[in-house]
Amino acid sequence: MTRLSVNINKVATLRNARGGNNPNVLQVALDCERFGAQGITVHPRPDERHIRYQDVLDLKPILTTEFNIEGNPQDRYMNLVLQVKPHQATLVPDADNVLTSNAGWDTIEYQSYLTDIISELKKHGIRTSIFVDPVEKMIEGAAKTGTDRIELYTEPYARQFRHNPAEAVAPYVRCAQLAQQLGLGVNAGHDLDLHNLRYLKQQIPFLDEVSIGHALICDALYYGLENTIRLYRRQLEN
Ligand code: PXP
Repeated sequence: MTRLSVNINKVATLRNARGGNNPNVLQVALDCERFGAQGITVHPRPDERHIRYQDVLDLKPILTTEFNIEGNPQDRYMNLVLQVKPHQATLVPDADNVLTSNAGWDTIEYQSYLTDIISELKKHGIRTSIFVDPVEKMIEGAAKTGTDRIELYTEPYARQFRHNPAEAVAPYVRCAQLAQQLGLGVNAGHDLDLHNLRYLKQQIPFLDEVSIGHALICDALYYGLENTIRLYRRQLEN
């Protein structure tokens, strides 16, 4: 089964636009769960322009599905994650000022750094995943850090999918198979949507989890949140 984790950052962005509490991020997270999301993902950034650190603290006691916190493992992220103890921490090498995540880790250059962080997280019982490009040597490097999973960065897949799905997915299939052989779980995320998700799942049936934010929230404007989550879940059915 491939689990759908809904990234609710965009909901927080909408709330922040007016300074009040509409939409209520905590209620939306609970409703996503009620509508079939199998996890909730947040990605707090240092400037708190989307989800705020306080949101993350408030979400933890009320969520009943899997909680995944993404981010660059700088001190503030690590303090938050060690306090909240989510089911999964996804490490992303974001620069502070990027619009959205735009590259995976260089797991060779950052191998000892990642190894230390991952061991700290695992000591606290938190599953780890690291965001990587679909490049075999980065998967091999990831395996050496002790991480439980990788998250394949799917933006290049999504971009090329429109022109040539088979070519777009090929490096992802190779890397997912390699990760599996090396004993790693495989997540995927970024720019997945109702057009490209089913094909990815068909080509990598053992995918553990996808985290989806932007397209899912955009689709919810047209289809409503409940229908949209159902539609995404349907793409992931075997
Ligand atoms: N995975 C990671 C590591 C991300 O940074 C993001 C965006 O915050 C996503 C998945 C979800 O991407 P999208 O919003 O395009 O679905």
